[in-house]
Amino acid sequence: MVKVVVAGAAGGIGQPLSLLLKLNPLVTELALYDVVNSVGVAADLSHIPTPAQITGFLPNTGAGGPSSADEQGQGAVNAMKGADLVVIPAGVPRKPGMTRDDLFNINAGICTTLAQAIAQAAPKAFVLVISNPVNSTVPIFAEVFKKQGTFDPKRLFGVTTLDCLRASTFVASVVGKPTEASKYVVPVVGGHAGYTILPLLSQSQPAIPQEILDDKEKREALTKRIQFGGDEVVEAKAGAGSATLSMAQAGAEFASKVLRAAFGGETGIVAPSYVNLEADAETAKTIRGEIGKDLEYFSVNVELGKSGIAKLNAIGKIDQVEAELLKKAVADLEPSIAKGVSFKAPPPKL
Ligand code: NAD
Ligand code: LMR
Repeated sequence: MVKVVVAGAAGGIGQPLSLLLKLNPLVTELALYDVVNSVGVAADLSHIPTPAQITGFLPNTGAGGPSSADEQGQGAVNAMKGADLVVIPAGVPRKPGMTRDDLFNINAGICTTLAQAIAQAAPKAFVLVISNPVNSTVPIFAEVFKKQGTFDPKRLFGVTTLDCLRASTFVASVVGKPTEASKYVVPVVGGHAGYTILPLLSQSQPAIPQEILDDKEKREALTKRIQFGGDEVVEAKAGAGSATLSMAQAGAEFASKVLRAAFGGETGIVAPSYVNLEADAETAKTIRGEIGKDLEYFSVNVELGKSGIAKLNAIGKIDQVEAELLKKAVADLEPSIAKGVSFKAPPPKL
């Protein structure tokens, strides 16, 4: 039995993500939590004949599901009860002209209340954070868990999969093989915002032809498109939000990998994620040496296992261009981490 919770399930990401998780054969129970409309989304998805039994929770939903009430507003806690994995696309998205950091003030509070509910009702769950700014919201989750005595760095993940999907698509297009995008695997390290997103083009598999890597203009444009792919969608949606459908696919893909490693008996699954480096203290030393800073969080390829993070992969060999970009990524990441770590939430409102 595997229980998954989506928090923010009625939103632009939440709805298609809930659909994709409803289709995942490893999921037997799916709880959809949101402050609006989650009961309707659950009723809709419940007609799809897959193993996942689905329930919608609002802030005042009791432990018995939609027909029961909780006057204390413990709906989030009730939804989380016994969860094996919680994925969190709750919070506001960007509009044109905004940075992800502009979302901090609203989303930090939302993340804090959800983290408190998880600590109370599902302290052993794998927690997958989508809410922006990921570079700061993941530290917020960690700090709440530390305070509640439930923090396990092996179980907390910032979802950066969308950067890798973009890298595959844009690289395949530049090398002239757009229909083979899914074959291109490009590690993306650092964080999830602008220059903190560092695609390691020199490590692409299959390799990017050297003449493209040596073409300064082409390479800069490709790197920038991956780093600022989110802006492309925000601008195209012109005020109606940011990436939702591609993010739902990315979130479902990453959740599926975590579930396959933890409950499906698969080994050797590797995926990128923004993590607390103490998840693998030994490799953390190597990574901190590579980045030249004692950062607490960084996105790297992660080997998944039964308990979440089995092992981190060091960055490995990078070229001179990437070494320069790494300095910028680290410089931008450091204050975002500090902002999340030092966030003090107002009293919780579930
Ligand atoms: P959206 O506004 O469409 O949906 C957000 C949902 O969260 C809404 O249904 C809202 O009711 C719900 N919500 C608000 N407060 C809540 C709370 N306290 N508890 C539970 N649910 C709550 O936004 P979206 O487009 O789905 O984006 C959601 C977040 O994901 C944004 O912060 C966005 O920036 C981020 N995002 C991250 C990535 C990534 O790569 N990590 C990609 C795309 C978007
Ligand atoms: C993305 O990369 O698409 C998301 O982080 C949403 C955004 O604000 O760009």
